Amino acid sequence: MLHRLLNYFRYDLAVDLGTANTLIGLAGEGLVLNEPSVVAVEQGTRRILSGGCAVGHLAKQMQGRTPESISVVRPLARGVITDYELCESMLRYFLRKAKPPGLRRKPRVLVAVPGCITPVERRAVFNSFQRAGARQVWLIGEATAAAIGVGMPIAEPVASMVVDVGGGTTETAVLSLADVVAGESIRTGGDEMDRAVVDYLKRHYSLRVGLPAAERLRIELGSAYPLDEEQVTQISGIDTVSGLPRQATVTSEEIRQALGDPLEAIIEAIKATLDGCSPDLAADLVSNGLVLCGGGSLLRRMDRFITEQTGLPARVAAEPLTAVVAGMSICLEHLDRWRPTLQSSDDEP
Ligand SMILES: Nc1ncnc2c1ncn2[C@@H]1O[C@H](COP(=O)(O)OP(=O)(O)OP(=O)(O)O)[C@@H](O)[C@H]1O
Ligand SMILES: [Mg+2]
Repeated sequence: MLHRLLNYFRYDLAVDLGTANTLIGLAGEGLVLNEPSVVAVEQGTRRILSGGCAVGHLAKQMQGRTPESISVVRPLARGVITDYELCESMLRYFLRKAKPPGLRRKPRVLVAVPGCITPVERRAVFNSFQRAGARQVWLIGEATAAAIGVGMPIAEPVASMVVDVGGGTTETAVLSLADVVAGESIRTGGDEMDRAVVDYLKRHYSLRVGLPAAERLRIELGSAYPLDEEQVTQISGIDTVSGLPRQATVTSEEIRQALGDPLEAIIEAIKATLDGCSPDLAADLVSNGLVLCGGGSLLRRMDRFITEQTGLPARVAAEPLTAVVAGMSICLEHLDRWRPTLQSSDDEP
């Protein structure tokens, strides 16, 4: 009872503002919002449709099916804010939706950011959240939050490795004694894989498909390593020569081939991270392995592929899509302990 009362007075939120999805955890309560990071606007005026409610799930449903006067916009790309105005509107909507009823105060917000974020991009995160209604903003590295969220013993003097393959970025990190000892942050993730599928279909089948269709195909048929039973499916698109709609038959082997470059980039990031580790830490990883999370880790046989390429045992987290927000919620529960490691909006000039 007292705990609930204290939490009521605290009003702290954990926000995983992802390129593909935004998740919000309310300290003391758990996950209160999980929506696509998407906004549908009227072209020209850039007014949000449906009286300001075409955000998240509603906007995602419209993607690829709108008349010319409407655009469905993702305010983030490759892990960072690219459309400040719409990101702020989206955040204001999400924060309002996550607000417990009856509360009038502004929340303090912990936000997860990629390791490759520049000072300018970081400033944009602070500003967007403050303008969207946050009282104070702290930042935490996505990989650290993910490692905490998947339950790794990061405070111990032993190496823990996490690989978060998101929509826009892949974060790799080795942690020991609650600190990142080596890590990489690359702007490759599910979106890059979708672009690779679009390119493949254009090159090999003269077929033009949209990114949402490529994503569906990748989720249905994609894999990182040979499957026990390879699969075949039909994909519809526009013939690049005739301009007419038609179908093509594609196999899971072809999609795997299409994903070659982005998968290679992820392996390179893991290898570079291992390169930055001392022999003792590397030895820990050989026995403990690494944990995969983020939606991109749901690509079939990703764990096996990583093990083949790096020699490290790899496993996918039990809840890969919520690992980051779960880790941030744990930080908020133990804020006194974590606060010195967080970047705060109060520290900005
Ligand atoms: N079953 C699945 N198989 C393959 N990929 C999937 C699956 N489910 C989701 N994804 C992919 O996961 C990605 C989204 O993952 P996630 O929500 O972790 O990203 P994000 O946190 O929004 O992005 P980032 O952290 O890079 O900013 C999308 O590219 C989506 O296509
Ligand atoms: Mg993410």
